[in-house]
Formats: sequence, structure tokens, C-alpha cells
Amino acid sequence: MKKKIRIGNAGGYWGDDLDALRRQLEGGPLDYITMDFLAEITMSILRKQQLKNPALGYARDFLTQLETCLPLIVEKNVRVINNAGGINPIGLGREILALARRQGHDIKVGVCYGDDITGQLYELSAAGEKFTNMETGADFEGVRHRVTSANVYLGAEPVVAALDAGCQIIVTGRVLDEHGQPLPDTLLEIWQANAAGRYIHRVDRHDAPLDPNFFGAGRCITDSKGRYRFITIKPGAYPWGNHDNAWRPAHIHFSLFGPNLQSRLATQMYFPGDPLLPLDPILNSIPDPAARERLVARFSPDVSEPGHALGYEWDIVLRGPAQTPMEA
Ligand SMILES: [Fe+2]
Repeated sequence: MKKKIRIGNAGGYWGDDLDALRRQLEGGPLDYITMDFLAEITMSILRKQQLKNPALGYARDFLTQLETCLPLIVEKNVRVINNAGGINPIGLGREILALARRQGHDIKVGVCYGDDITGQLYELSAAGEKFTNMETGADFEGVRHRVTSANVYLGAEPVVAALDAGCQIIVTGRVLDEHGQPLPDTLLEIWQANAAGRYIHRVDRHDAPLDPNFFGAGRCITDSKGRYRFITIKPGAYPWGNHDNAWRPAHIHFSLFGPNLQSRLATQMYFPGDPLLPLDPILNSIPDPAARERLVARFSPDVSEPGHALGYEWDIVLRGPAQTPMEA
């Protein structure tokens, strides 16, 4: 089936109609709204603002628009893509999260950065980059002392990565005994890496971003039918140094408690179609291929929620021939 995506636009330059975002949200339905704030000269203006106040350097108008539009964005589940971050995209990201907290909204903000090469101009020149003027062919040396900002075009790739990262997922399934009977009131603890493949733990030295809004751990209890359900972010793969170029496939750690805290079982759930699964020594320490397969969740269109989260189902069987492999 061909998926239909609706994209609207609410701005073509810094200073464009401030009401356009609200109009697009009200006029929807839309899945995405894009907004362009930047021209080359805009970057210079933003840099001058940032030189006066390091906390600035982004298009503040976007925050003005968000003040009134964020409730609609949340209600209609629209993803907004723009370059209002200008010279200081991380600063704008923080302000958006602060605004969302003030309004009581739980939102995700992805920030693309790394385009600012102002501090690398001398290094790049020394390495042979000429920075020749594309229009006049003029030499860069004549203007270097006047440069206030220098940025490269990132293109669409990091935007796509930001949209993909941190895909919300719903994980659900049942906890069963060896006879297939559901086990109600079973406490499950889960912990996992964030979307970039990093745990909030002092020994995790993976050079990947930490997300201050993602703790990576939670608990839930099975209902009367033995079913559990939680919403999280799809974890990323992470390097673990076991062997050359060793990466763990994306996984979620589960711990299940019996009637008391001494009766505890721990295991890991994996994701279907992960190319790292055949290479993972931990998963492959289970000799039986069918048992390994029982650790891989099933993607479920029925559990998935449109525009919100992908769904995965994974049953945990505590004993018997269909037992879910557990860690010793
Ligand atoms: Fe892990």
C-alpha cells in the first residue's frame, strides 16, 4: 500500500507571515510543516546578535509562533521541520523544550548541527581550501579578516536522520507459564540505550549524545490477562569492544520478578530485521536457532498507532519447551 504523507509550508524567509504556521495547522490535516528562515545574510545578522548575547543566534520569531501554535502541533501530531536555529540551533532546541514544559507538553525536539565552521577557517585554509568566491572568483584572503560567520550546507540527510532517530515504539506482549497460562501482576523492569545507542551510565563511554530527557529505564506490571505494554524510544546499536568493530544490535533489557525479589529472570528483546543479529555473540551464545528467534519481537501493524509509534509484540514464556532464553 502506498503511504500518503501531507506536507505543508509556513514560511520562506525570516520575517515571513507569522500567522502562517497557525493557518497551516488549522487548515490541515498535515503530517509535516516545513519553514525556511535562513538566507546567507540572515546567518550574518544572527551571528551579530549572538556576539552581543551568546544565548541568541536563532530566529526568535519561531518561539513567538510556538507560544500559540504548540497546543495545535501536539493535538494534531504534526512534525515541524525548520532552520530557525540559525547560528545556535542547540540554544533554540533548549528554548523550545522549556516552552513545552511551561505549557505542559511532552514533545521531542531533534537538532541538526555541525554546519558552523567559523572556528575552522584557518585550519581549513592551511589544509589547502581556497574558499574562492563562486561568483567573482575572488581570493578569500582579502576578506578573511571580515568574516563573522561561516557555515556549510548540511543538506537533507541529517534532517532525515533526526526524523528517524528516536522513533517512538509501543512494546507489548504477555508473560506466560509453561502451559501458556498468563501471569498477572508480574513486575517487569526494562532498561535500554537511547536512540543514539548510549546508556545514561558513568561507564558508558560511547561517543554518542546523551538525551537529558530520556532516562532509559522503566517498570510496568502485567494486567489480569498477563499483558504488559509500554511506550519508549527505539534504542540504537552501540559498540561494546568485544572484538574488532563489535556492535550490539538494538535491544531492550527485561527483568521479571516472581512473587519475591529473589525470583528474578533477566533477558533481552531484539528487533526484527536487524542486520546485526547474526553477528552478535551474546544472541548467538544460545545454541538453538528457534530459541534465538524467540528473543526477537514481532512487528505488529495492529499495535502500531498512526503518526505516533510503531508497535512490537513480544511474549515471554517463563518455563517449558517454548521458554524464552534467560540470562544465567
Ligand atoms: Fe545493553
